[in-house]
Amino acid sequence: MIFNMFMAGRIAFGPGVSSLAGEKASALGGRRALLVTDRTMEKLGTAAKIISYIDAAGLSVVPFYDVEPEPSVETVDTATALAKSEGCDLVVGLGGGSCLDVAKAASVLLTNEGSAARYQGLGLVKNAGVPKIMIPTTAGTGSEVTFTAVLIRKSDGVKGGINGDQLYPDFSLLDPELTVTMPPSVTAATGMDALAHALEAYTSKQASPFSDMFAEEAISRIGRFLRVAVYNGSDIHARSEMMLAALYGGIALANAGVTACHALAYPLGSMFGIGHGQANALLLPYVAQFNAMALPEKFGAAAELLGGSFEEESLWDSASMCSALLHQLVADIALPSTLSELDPRITEDHFAAMAEKAMGVARPMANNPRTMNTDLCIEIYKEAM
Ligand SMILES: [Fe+2]
Repeated sequence: MIFNMFMAGRIAFGPGVSSLAGEKASALGGRRALLVTDRTMEKLGTAAKIISYIDAAGLSVVPFYDVEPEPSVETVDTATALAKSEGCDLVVGLGGGSCLDVAKAASVLLTNEGSAARYQGLGLVKNAGVPKIMIPTTAGTGSEVTFTAVLIRKSDGVKGGINGDQLYPDFSLLDPELTVTMPPSVTAATGMDALAHALEAYTSKQASPFSDMFAEEAISRIGRFLRVAVYNGSDIHARSEMMLAALYGGIALANAGVTACHALAYPLGSMFGIGHGQANALLLPYVAQFNAMALPEKFGAAAELLGGSFEEESLWDSASMCSALLHQLVADIALPSTLSELDPRITEDHFAAMAEKAMGVARPMANNPRTMNTDLCIEIYKEAM
């Protein structure tokens, strides 16, 4: 048994903890904060609330509201230029994974010269960034505990992460109250992203006893509480359990990586603009079926964690039950279950190009429990059609 483990930064969890934003910003030595968020947070009044907390601690705030759903290198450059001209010395990210990723990237761009495009890759960032605080408003991405910022380059449409230890947040405030305004479709898609992180980390070739512990807790919570969070969004208990599950999924992902599902979902985003959570939700049951026989103990255990009960079934039956339970979950929370339903523009003619792009996402493909190649990717897309 050989493994490394990593826990990022410091975390405060619980209803109302976002009110600590000012206190934490001040403790990190900030005087002028760049708040990186989007128009939804502005409209909901969540941004104004966070600004008031930071104000009250004696810091000034420069808001940036222009983060788009699939954030770009150009957006990071614009936010960084604003922060530089305003003399900001701390960054606060507020929103879903897109806002957090832009905030994390801006924090390191403030101390590393040039465009964000220069740093897409692994370990290219040299200097520590300015201190950063992350306040997620969805329960899914795990961006609050990972060292990645995924950005698309508008110039050539290529999506790539800035990956480096400097991107880990200094503090994350996980406040389930901020997630109650999420509409059901977003709750469903982001919750499935969290489940994909947990199940993929659980079945990754990099899985360890440490990552397994977090993955198991995440899978069982999502099995119990995602439907409730979707259909009874104001249930703060279900929202808290989902936020905890997303955190655990993020820790599992940060330590064990993801597998073929995230890699196969990637071209759906870059070629058709499908949201990250929705793409992963759709593919997860198919990838689970494809992988089940390569790692039956883990998939059988995951099926049990998702609420399946087995007495007489063989190991093989319980392993493939995982996929059936995932299909059931996707249907219950009203997400599309086939590629043709997801987007009628997707046809079999695209599969070769999609498979090629997916195989290019090298690390997740290498982590997959069943050895992958382009033909097998096409097989999974066909199955999902
Ligand atoms: Fe994800």
